Amino acid sequence: MKTFISFAAAFTFVASILSFSPSHCSGEVSDFDSIKLYTLKNDSGMTAKVTNYGAIITSLMVPDRNGEHADVVLGYDRLEDYINAVDKPYFGAIVGRYGNRIAKGEFSIDGETYSLAVNNGENHLHGGVIGFDKVVWDVDLFDDHQIVLSYHAKDMEEGYPGNLAVSVTYTLTDDNRIVIDYHATTDKRTPVNLTQHSYFNLKGEGNGTILDHRLTINADRFTPVDAGLIPTGELRSVASTPFDFTTAKPIGRDIHIENEQLTFGGGFDHNWVLNRSESDGELVLAAHVSEPETGRTLTVLTTEPGIQFYCGNFLDGRLRGKSGQAYLHRGGFCLETQHFPDSPNHPEFPSTLLAPGETYQTQTVFAFSTDNVSR
Ligand code: GLA
Repeated sequence: MKTFISFAAAFTFVASILSFSPSHCSGEVSDFDSIKLYTLKNDSGMTAKVTNYGAIITSLMVPDRNGEHADVVLGYDRLEDYINAVDKPYFGAIVGRYGNRIAKGEFSIDGETYSLAVNNGENHLHGGVIGFDKVVWDVDLFDDHQIVLSYHAKDMEEGYPGNLAVSVTYTLTDDNRIVIDYHATTDKRTPVNLTQHSYFNLKGEGNGTILDHRLTINADRFTPVDAGLIPTGELRSVASTPFDFTTAKPIGRDIHIENEQLTFGGGFDHNWVLNRSESDGELVLAAHVSEPETGRTLTVLTTEPGIQFYCGNFLDGRLRGKSGQAYLHRGGFCLETQHFPDSPNHPEFPSTLLAPGETYQTQTVFAFSTDNVSR
């Protein structure tokens, strides 16, 4: 049974809170004292750590095929590093109000034009300057299997219309799944596109690149982009292109092929259009990743129509993570389940508009397991 508990009670469950001291932050956050680190654990020995700063997953300890646990997500063990990081890579965070890009930071609803921060070349990325990854969330519920985080974004916060009440629930199941439930309501029509921005390395964070990981994406099409990574509107077949992950292949196999889309992305940094036989809103297989050395696998399921596969092209070895290791170029990958980028300017894409009286409700599952095939 779930119980609502106070912050004081939550402390009793909190591990490693001392190593997450917010004492040297120079960022924009003012209510440091309410930022805590929460640990979920299951009966199989998996743990997940979550902070209410940015609703960030800071650690996921997952067994390999021999039962050895490693932390498979990139991140830090000090809050100040999340706040002060160079180039803010969105490690582990919930991004929003609109995850991914909006062209030139502009969209219109009912004839009214809204202007957003242009924080990625000439475009808007991941909710703006202080998106949902950089705010302090409330903790509405916490027990050792689940945490419910909520945030109230104000009307015109980061330029978006409407007061938006958002909640994100992380549940750790006994079969090593992280189930993420997103929920939002608004009092004005507004675009909403929430996603989880964990960078995975199934060998363990800081353990080299992810180019040998074998990836399958359940998508026959992707949304090609311009040089600023804004979709052109085309839904292009992946057949005979490096974007074909319909059967498993190492992420690095085709990444150096001469291809305009790969040049624009600096590698893979694109949205795939998920195949669905079920109706919209059903949970479908989105992607599967296996790491040959450790046998760890990750299966991603989602109710969303798309997935941004980003293979850490902007990592360059400058950032050092929680184990002190440099995060190399392509040292982690993200599988960001979502609606398509720039949907507010593409009426032909599935709509991201949320209206008063409607409920935004999506689910994504990160399911961990192991294969038993040795190398
Ligand atoms: C997303 C984008 C990438 C990059 C990362 C953050 O995945 O698609 O281009 O901006 O976020 O570094």
